[in-house]
Amino acid sequence: MSLALPILARSAGAVPPAAPASDGRSLRDSHGRVIRDLRLSITDRCNFRCVYCMDPDVRFADPSELLSVEQLIRLASVCVGLGIEKVRITGGEPTVHPRLTDIIRGVSALPIDDVALTTNGSLIDEARAAEWHTAGLRRITLSIDSLRPDRFAALTRSNCPPSRVLDAIDASRRAGLGPVKLNAVVVRGFNEDEVQDLARLAHDLGVEMRFIEFMPLDSGHHWDRARVVPAEEIVRRIDAVLPLVPDGRDDPSSTSLNYRFADGSPGRIGLIAPVTRPFCGACSRLRITADGKIRPCLFSRQEWDLRPLLWANAGDDQLKGFIADAVWTKQAGHGISSRDFVQPARPMSAIGG
Ligand code: 5AD
Ligand code: SF4
Repeated sequence: MSLALPILARSAGAVPPAAPASDGRSLRDSHGRVIRDLRLSITDRCNFRCVYCMDPDVRFADPSELLSVEQLIRLASVCVGLGIEKVRITGGEPTVHPRLTDIIRGVSALPIDDVALTTNGSLIDEARAAEWHTAGLRRITLSIDSLRPDRFAALTRSNCPPSRVLDAIDASRRAGLGPVKLNAVVVRGFNEDEVQDLARLAHDLGVEMRFIEFMPLDSGHHWDRARVVPAEEIVRRIDAVLPLVPDGRDDPSSTSLNYRFADGSPGRIGLIAPVTRPFCGACSRLRITADGKIRPCLFSRQEWDLRPLLWANAGDDQLKGFIADAVWTKQAGHGISSRDFVQPARPMSAIGG
C-alpha cells in the first residue's frame, strides 16, 4: 500500500548495540566515563557564516527533519532522568529559533539548576535576555572573535559589527544572565594577533574569555593544522602584556584550562585546546542534534537517530534504553592527531558546540 511507504522510510535508522544493563538512572560509556552534560542543538540555522564553521553555500536541514519544541523538551527530560545535570542549548544559532523562550522554559522546569545558552550574540537585546532569564535561563556564552569591525564582518561573513556583541554582553549581565562567558575561536592568519586585545576586554569587563583552538568541524573541510594556534602560544601572547596566573580546571570534566590575571582583576582567561591538549579522557558530554541524532562525541562518525522512536510514540523507558545504548558507544577520543583521523561529515553548526 502506498500509504505505508513514508512510514517505512521513516522507521529506518541504525540501532545501537545493547549496552550492559545499567541502573537506568545514570549514563555511562564503555570507557568508564559518566555522562552528565547535554548539549541540545535546537536548530542548524544561523545568521552568520563564520569561516571556521560554515561555508557560504552550506545547506540546512529541511524543517520537516527537525525536532519539534515538545520533542526537544521531552528528550531533555528523558536525559535528566538518566542523570544529566546540565543542559546547554546550542545551534546553529539558537536565537534564530522562533520558540527559543518556550524551549528554555521547558528545559528549565526540569529538576536541574544549570541551563545555559551558547549564542553568537548578534540578536540579543535586554528585553530578550530578560525574557530568557524569566523563563529560567541562568548562564550565557557569547562568541566574539574580533573587535575590529572589518575583520569581525569578514570572519562571520555578516554585516554585524562587534559592538552589537558588546551590547549583548551588557544586556545579558543587566538581565541577570551571569557570569557571562565569551568564546573566541583563534585561526592563524585571521585573528591570532588579537588575542591580547580580547584578553584585555575580559580584564576590563571582568568576564571570562575562552580561546578555542580551531577544530576540524567546518562545513567546507578546509581545516588545516597550520591554521591552529596552540593554546600555549595564546597564553604566551597574553602573558606578555597581561601577566597570568594558572587557575586549573573548574572540574575535571571541564574543557577549559583557566588563568587569572596577576593584577587581581575579576576577569579570567580559559583555554580550550582540543587539538594540542585533548581532554577526552574526562569528557562528560552528550549531544543531541536538531534533527534528532544522538552524537556521543563531537567527532562521532556514527550517530543514532531518535526520530523513528519518537514517530513510533515510544515510551520514556524505550527512549532511555536507546540513549543509554548510544552513549555506551562513545569513542575514547577524537583522534584528531592520529594518522587515520577522518573529519565527521557534519559541521559544528549541525552538531551543537
Ligand atoms: N573550531 C572551534 N570552535 C568552533 N566553533 C564553531 N566551529 C568551530 C571550529 N571549527 C565554536 C563557535 C562557538 C562554539 C559553539 O563553537 O565559535 O563559540
Ligand atoms: Fe553561526 Fe556559530 Fe557557526 Fe558562526 S560558529 S556560523 S555563529 S553556528
